[in-house]
Amino acid sequence: MAPTLGVNIDHIATIRQARRGTEPDPIAAAVIAELAGADGITVHLREDRRHIQDRDVRVLRQTVYTHLNLEMAATAEMVAIALEIKPDYVTLVPEKREEITTEGGLDINGMGDRLTKFVEELQTASIPVSLFVDADPAQLKASEQTGAKFVELHTGTYANARTEDQLKQELEFLILGTELALSLGLRVNAGHGLTYWNTKAIAQIMGMEELNIGHSIISRAALVGLDRAVREMKALITF
Ligand code: PXP
Repeated sequence: MAPTLGVNIDHIATIRQARRGTEPDPIAAAVIAELAGADGITVHLREDRRHIQDRDVRVLRQTVYTHLNLEMAATAEMVAIALEIKPDYVTLVPEKREEITTEGGLDINGMGDRLTKFVEELQTASIPVSLFVDADPAQLKASEQTGAKFVELHTGTYANARTEDQLKQELEFLILGTELALSLGLRVNAGHGLTYWNTKAIAQIMGMEELNIGHSIISRAALVGLDRAVREMKALITF
């Protein structure tokens, strides 16, 4: 079965936050994405609130018609927010304040009991948890030990591969990781750095459930939408 598409709308909020104003509103973007066939809406509420704001997550909870995936750091503050807002699932990601975007998967073993406790708290409240990890066997086995229902395989290294050999190797790593995760009873999503050029091979991995894609879709939206936006402004000032 083909995977579903979760559209990450963080960068709509990035544009809004550039002026700290009200447009473009990620809520409107979510509606358009759903009308266009998105199977889910993904947002990352970062600790520094650089793009998505608490208000966005609250309103999206009321307006998203498909499902809402909340990406967040594994912290007590974020778990409390998730327990209150109740997204359809939560993806726990590593977060560093100085990074431009998420740089890699979680180090599950390095997080100790804290992670298992957060997974349990969320899943007891009927919020399935996905752990964003590299497709590394040790990370996948450790993910299973936490009780999380899903893993999201980090595709960033695959996306950054520059030679055919590297690309083949990274794809194989993701295929083997998916097989192992499924055999451990985990459900498998993937994301990060996926584009119009590199996504098809990931979509074709057997058992892949959902792809979470943001930057490339919002980038294309800015370009394919620019023609109409300029024409509309030109028409407005032409009399
Ligand atoms: N999945 C996870 C866990 C992420 O952190 C991100 C980036 O926020 C994405 C998917 C989407 O990545 P991109 O914007 O590169 O498509």
